Amino acid sequence: MRVSITQIREMKQKGEKISMLTAYDYATAKIIDEAGIPMVLVGDSLGMVVLGYDSTIPVTMDEMIHHTKAVARGTSRALVVGDMPFMTYQVCIDDALRNAARFIQEAGAQAVKLEGGEVMAETVKRVVAAGIPVMGHIGLTPQSINQLGGFKVIGKTPEAAFRLLNDARALDEAGVFAIVLECVPEALSKLITGKVSVPTIGIGAGKFCDGQVQVISDLLGLYTDFVPKHAKQYARLFESIRQAATDYSAEVRAGTFPTERQSYIMDESVLAELEKYA
Ligand code: KIV
Repeated sequence: MRVSITQIREMKQKGEKISMLTAYDYATAKIIDEAGIPMVLVGDSLGMVVLGYDSTIPVTMDEMIHHTKAVARGTSRALVVGDMPFMTYQVCIDDALRNAARFIQEAGAQAVKLEGGEVMAETVKRVVAAGIPVMGHIGLTPQSINQLGGFKVIGKTPEAAFRLLNDARALDEAGVFAIVLECVPEALSKLITGKVSVPTIGIGAGKFCDGQVQVISDLLGLYTDFVPKHAKQYARLFESIRQAATDYSAEVRAGTFPTERQSYIMDESVLAELEKYA
């Protein structure tokens, strides 16, 4: 049985911390699912850490659907959240409904995530009313990077902090089942966490959030173009993979790969027969 949004909300009430990781493909999603992570986010970070764009802005619905399908196939227990790409929900509510529905109906996700606070409240209400669970995302919202002027901590001034609290409350009232807080000072995310009824899931928002989310490529040390302060590398796959590729190449050049172990052997008599006619 898959984890439900009700269970995620109950985890806050019981004081159980929630872990969420991103995934973009079948194999990684399967490992994360087996590790017992209750929520998997197919983040639009896909654009940067898998597709090599320099921001999340170029990511399309079709790319997100393609990768969300793979993640849905790789999971049987985790709740799969599909991240709505830039400009697939901001233009009008009809767009938001149509695109959110694609994540659920076509890709097999159980929920969607979208960026923005109070300004997105009406959209959230309508998507939730259509039966699609929505996760909010405030603080540093990478789709607005050009407006924000770069990757930075949000909510450091009294006005910005108040705006963020207001955004969190608006999303809570609009019916989100959880709110991602990205790059928010720890004391502010603690305050917000105490003021909203739904779980807060932090990334660079300190230890007082109800849960944490990390980008899998950061966690595994796989994406090294940019390593944010809030990322912790639990493995160093960039180096491991580079070493494996180097060793493989050296063995191919030296003729020590493949060996008999990696080869398929033909019956001697078949070969002898073949050689008569060759
Ligand atoms: O796209 C993503 O991976 C995200 C997380 C950083 C929350 O939105």
